[in-house]
Amino acid sequence: MIKIEHVSKSYGDIKAVDDVSLKIDDGEIFGIVGYSGAGKSTLLRTINQLEKVDEGVIDIDGVDITKLDIKALREKRRKIGMIFQHFDLLWSKTVLDNIAFPLELIKVDKETRREKAKEVAKRVGLEDKLDVYPSTLSGGQKQRVAIARALISEPNILLSDEATSALDPKTTDDILELLKKINKEYQITIVLITHQMEVVQKICHRLAVMADGKVIEDGRVDDIFKDPKQDLTKKLIQTVDTGLDVEKMAIDLKAKYPEGHLLRLTFDQKSSGEPILYEVGNKLHIPFNIVSANIKNTQVGPLGVMYIHIEKRHDIAKIIEELQKDEVKVEVI
Ligand SMILES: Nc1ncnc2c1ncn2[C@@H]1O[C@H](COP(=O)(O)OP(=O)(O)O)[C@@H](O)[C@H]1O
Ligand SMILES: [Mg+2]
Repeated sequence: MIKIEHVSKSYGDIKAVDDVSLKIDDGEIFGIVGYSGAGKSTLLRTINQLEKVDEGVIDIDGVDITKLDIKALREKRRKIGMIFQHFDLLWSKTVLDNIAFPLELIKVDKETRREKAKEVAKRVGLEDKLDVYPSTLSGGQKQRVAIARALISEPNILLSDEATSALDPKTTDDILELLKKINKEYQITIVLITHQMEVVQKICHRLAVMADGKVIEDGRVDDIFKDPKQDLTKKLIQTVDTGLDVEKMAIDLKAKYPEGHLLRLTFDQKSSGEPILYEVGNKLHIPFNIVSANIKNTQVGPLGVMYIHIEKRHDIAKIIEELQKDEVKVEVI
């Protein structure tokens, strides 16, 4: 378990991380999301002490790593892998030698480290690229090299700093699937930071939202998507729901139907399998327009979101009451 307790870190006048406390369980994929400058990278880098904290404790499996001497820290770090947006590969080394590099650093003999590197390369689908140079690879393949290089030390923890942010949507999905597989098969705890809520929705079990160095909200992915408390969290989620700017959508709809109501409905495991909308519509004899809808499979079960528009003359309080009986979360936008 990783316990971050009251951690702060400033650069001059800028409080990059401001009194953050979080617990990350073994074997989970934990997402930290927020806009650029929120303090995500700084916080992540305190977990392997690439960044020293000004205050607070980073307890990993019962050891406060902020207190370790350099030798003990080096040992601990070996079990914490890290991947980045820009891969950080060695361009003059082949794929195989890139993957083997962490073992070269600790003077594992050539034969052994190359064997090990081949094995890891296979796990990430690079077995036919061993002898080429990274510059000839696609973005997704480069990230696979970086992931393999992180895995070769058999880490318990993998830190990911915007690892998919430079990739196209299809490649992003492939890399996220790979991370999910690694998490499952090797029980590696993954802490990933991203500015994309969609990434969190796809592979995380829990998440924290950061703004101005602080964690403003955290919890299970299904709970937060169903019932976001902070405006920033709502905004981040709405872009995932629809791929649209919901505020703009609301304005457009208001122009089209000046009198109507726009509702956001969220269903989870308990409700998403059932034809709730159909039943409510029948019960209340209320026609509604479905503006946008999708159901996603998340790590904690299916999650559905629907935006509906209802004309003004209908009793919106009644429809909300009926929907809530079926455990649908309703928000008026
Ligand atoms: N090495 C540094 N020196 C000075 N300021 C920094 C440094 N690293 C980060 N910052 C500042 O700290 C804040 C948080 O940055 P960062 O952790 O990179 O946020 P994020 O990863 O969420 O974009 C920003 O205001 C950034 O400019
Ligand atoms: Mg960052």
